[in-house]
Amino acid sequence: MRCDQTQAWTALQAHADLFGGFDLRTAFAADAQRAQTLSQTAPFVFADLSKNHTDTATEALLIELARQTGLAAHRDAMFRGERINNTEDRAVMHWLLRQPEGSLTGELAAPLQQVHDTLKPMLAYAESIRADAQITDVVNIGIGGSDLGPQMAVLALQDFVIPGKRFHFVSNVDGHELAGVLKGLKAENTLFLIASKTFTTIETMTNARSALGWFQSQGGTDVALHFAALTTNVAAAAEFGIRTTFGFWDWVGGRYSVWSAIGLPVAIAIGAQGFKDFLAGAHAMDQHFQTAPLAANLPVRLGLLDVWYRNFLNYTSRSMAPYHSALRRVPAYLQQLEMESNGKRVDRHGQAVSYETSPVLWGEPGTNGQHAYFQMLHQGTDVVPVEFMAVKKSTHNLANHHELLLANVIAQAQALMLGQADEGGHKHFPGNRPSTFLLLDELTPASLGALIALQEHRVFVSGSVWGINSFDQWGVELGKVLAKDIHARMLSGDAKGLDASSAALLQRVRGH
Ligand code: F6P
Repeated sequence: MRCDQTQAWTALQAHADLFGGFDLRTAFAADAQRAQTLSQTAPFVFADLSKNHTDTATEALLIELARQTGLAAHRDAMFRGERINNTEDRAVMHWLLRQPEGSLTGELAAPLQQVHDTLKPMLAYAESIRADAQITDVVNIGIGGSDLGPQMAVLALQDFVIPGKRFHFVSNVDGHELAGVLKGLKAENTLFLIASKTFTTIETMTNARSALGWFQSQGGTDVALHFAALTTNVAAAAEFGIRTTFGFWDWVGGRYSVWSAIGLPVAIAIGAQGFKDFLAGAHAMDQHFQTAPLAANLPVRLGLLDVWYRNFLNYTSRSMAPYHSALRRVPAYLQQLEMESNGKRVDRHGQAVSYETSPVLWGEPGTNGQHAYFQMLHQGTDVVPVEFMAVKKSTHNLANHHELLLANVIAQAQALMLGQADEGGHKHFPGNRPSTFLLLDELTPASLGALIALQEHRVFVSGSVWGINSFDQWGVELGKVLAKDIHARMLSGDAKGLDASSAALLQRVRGH
């Protein structure tokens, strides 16, 4: 049933009306167990939800909404490989990429074997590149899910990256990016990974052609050694002239593809075992999502909290605050994951929905954000839920730095909640500002895998409750089509039929 037609939705609306006066400070004062009650562990992650505008009664109503909208059945349909991506008539099986070999029977046994029959040679290739001292630079050319995931993971796992190799990520069609990277490279020392699920994306294909041109202009001849493709479109990669190709399948969404061949730069960086650990961490979170009772299921609780905030308390955005510099690309990664998944205005049947969907996600690593936009989080007019991520153990040996970092992240969550009432005017902090705190013991391939799978599943949960298809992205197409037209007009100068503003801009950029 559509969420807003359910009794649970009506009950939540009534509950929200009463919730107006909710105050975290009062809630903590009234319930000494609040922190414990609303915290939980999941594989590799400790989560404290107690500084959120919620309580056990609210969670119970949200769980009821999950029941009445068929969340568990939808989740199980995904894990059975059903074609839940109905507008593209595809299954959604990024989770299969981290499923242990031979661990499934029935219809999924064959695709699972295909996964491992692809993973093994890919990891062997990764190890061969790691062992090849001549290759000092790996350039991943890809955009969106073919860039954000591997870039985020290679950065996050910098402590596990093989010494003596540099990793570059080129995504933008803006030639300044590729040119800037090529400047410091030698053809004989460089491996280009052309990463594109479709192998048709204009930015990636333009960058790939320019990279090939540069390679040949530097006297490079052995394309087979210096270029590999990561794609579902093996034929197009061959047509491009690439012989080393690692494939994946249409049931892997781009923004869910870091676990597939798109993860090759990660495997080269951290090694075959490291990549297996990355997959295993995510798989542990898959099992938690599949088996934990809804009320003790962390992706479910976070996804439902997102629905509560978006549809009942009308908070329009969420700020991601990773307090570890290696996690600095996590907010950008999560922006695509959640906003490309749930930024939808129609339900799975194409009917316009009458309620809000994806929040706006934004954020920077801590403590940087504190000196940028935390002013607004503390004293602005909007209430913006914050999601802090921290790592208990550091891997550097600089004294005092990590203690200060952890002190700041705990203090920021505290300050948002407590506020400061005794000062008026400019120095008044309203407080009662919500936050979630996710803590990893250490940042490893496994814990990162679990953290990212947690985010994937929470996005699944809110999208499922909203009844939208979280796995298509038709909204990206119009701009691409118009860009093709404008590009042709850039060359021809023909502005006939364009709106006056675009015509004038076209003339201006063409320099007339
Ligand atoms: O345009 C959006 C998108 O299709 C994303 O969903 C995807 O991750 C990205 O472009 C890149 O697509 P591809 O991997 O096919 O080049």
